[in-house]
This record gives sequence, structure tokens and C-alpha cells, in this order.
Amino acid sequence: MLSTKEMNDNFINQIIHNSSYFESKSKLDFKEKDLLKNKIVALLFFEPSTRTMFSFQSAVYRLGGNVIIYSSDYSSEKKGESLNDTLKSIECYCDLIVMRHPEKKKVEEASKIVNIPVINAGDGDKEHPSQALLDLYTMDYYYKIYSLKSYNKILIIGDIKSRTINSLLNLLFKFTNCLINYVIIDDSDRQEIDKWLEKFPMFNNNDLYKLSNLDYLNNLNNIDYDIVYMTRYQKERYEDNIYIPKCIIDKNFMDRLNRNSIILHPLPRNNEIDKDLDNDHRILFFDQMKKGVFVRMAILKHFF
Ligand code: NCD
Repeated sequence: MLSTKEMNDNFINQIIHNSSYFESKSKLDFKEKDLLKNKIVALLFFEPSTRTMFSFQSAVYRLGGNVIIYSSDYSSEKKGESLNDTLKSIECYCDLIVMRHPEKKKVEEASKIVNIPVINAGDGDKEHPSQALLDLYTMDYYYKIYSLKSYNKILIIGDIKSRTINSLLNLLFKFTNCLINYVIIDDSDRQEIDKWLEKFPMFNNNDLYKLSNLDYLNNLNNIDYDIVYMTRYQKERYEDNIYIPKCIIDKNFMDRLNRNSIILHPLPRNNEIDKDLDNDHRILFFDQMKKGVFVRMAILKHFF
């Protein structure tokens, strides 16, 4: 599973259905608790991770499997071994690889080197498919977007280097009829945005989808959206960037937002959301995070 672009209707339906099945069962009360018995999943993270890594690990254990975890500090990478050779070695010891890498081509390259399935857990600023499935599942859970194909209005706030947004947009464009407004929070120049837009021609071609900047938000009296999807500014993906992220979701924002909207965020957050708002009923990213394990169980079920 390398990209959201390769996903079809059947696959999405199956993931949403199975995630909901796992979520509805109490922790070990389901027939798949031995599905991964005698199976070993390798977690290869070349970039930091809390939720993606631990939820995959937890999902493997809940399905009866085992994990081996790669650590660059204690591996032959330190002795100058190539990624290629590392992958060939790890392939001998497991049945599936979950991999995250800061360079966008590496996970795809890895999948060609080994003969076992590879799940992309984030490749640079390109994609984060399992996160997008969990985001779509959470949206579906709260608004039945996918199954009802309703015209929900979605506000996305982030920057063009956010891989979670890139992957989520692919799924939303492909499987829903939502109105999407993307507020770009960084100060990327127009050239960079145009280059990014080539990957998302829908923003140019359809009135339903719009791009805008922060002024757009500041000037709204009523923030009339069903779903707000926010990410932190991806500072590690910019060289010499002087943009200073500001708090965007604050009391003033919440006062203007619909009472029945939901706010999602892949986490981690920095200061883009005021932490004093965590008890607001519209803040649902802690529940979103919790759903990650059920969605990753559904993803693993697909492979075994
Ligand atoms: C995201 C990621 O790694 O891209 N986090 C995650 O997997 N939940 C988002 C981010 O780092 O901002």
C-alpha cells in the first residue's frame, strides 16, 4: 500500500466496514484475534513517529502477531550499510514491512527491492495513505461522507508540504462530492503552489474546490463548514523558511464556527490550535487518533 491513488471503491468500502467492525468489538472479542498468529511485521521508521508506529504495533498485537522494530542507532546503517542491503536483510525476518522515510521515493523503491508487502507510513511530503484512511473513516463515522456521498463542506488548513493533506485530498476527490476549501497557511510563493496544484488539477477545474489564504478565514463572520481538518506547519520540510506559525483555531475561530462542526487533526500539533479548547465538543482529534488502531487492523486484515 504505497499511495491513496491506487485505492479503489472496493478497497475503501472494505477498510471502512472492517474498521467499524473492529471498533464495535471490545478489545479482544473478535474472531480475527489469531489472524496474524506466527506472522511478524517489521516497523522501519526513518523519521519520528508516535501514533502511526504505536498504532500499527498495537494493531499487530491485537490480531495475534508480533513486531520487530528497526532502530538506525543500533543497526548496520551506522556501519555504512546501504538501505538496499538493510531491506534485503529485514525481508528475511518478517512477513510485511511498515516503512516511513523522509525522502519521497524511498518507500516505493523499497517495495521493489523486497518480495513482501510494504505499507507506506509516510514518505517525505508526498503521501501518508494509512492516515488518510483513518481520516476518511473518522469523517465517515461522524458525517457518513463516504457511504452517503453527501455534500459536506470541508475546510482544510495546512501547508502544501503536508503529506496527510495530500493523501486525504486524493481520497476526498475520488470518493466524495464534498465541497473542499483549502486554506494554505504558509507563505510559499505562487510558483511553488502552482507546482503543487499540478498534482491536484481539481482545484483549478471545479468550483466546488477552492484554494484560499488566511485572510479568507479572518474575514468570515460565520465559519460555515461541517468538517475542519487542520495540520501543523511542516517546518522540517522547508529550508530557510521564515514563516512563523500562529494560533489559528482559537476562541474567536470557535465562536464563528458552526455548533455541529467537527475539528480533526492528524497530530502532533504545535500552536495552531489553542490547547484551552480541548474540552470543546467539536474537538475530535483525540477520538480520531484512537480510531487509528482499528483502521490499521483493517489494513493488516487486507494483507493476511
Ligand atoms: C503526521 C505525519 O507524520 O505526517 N503525523 C501522523 O502520522 N499522525 C502529521 C505531522 O507530522 O504533522
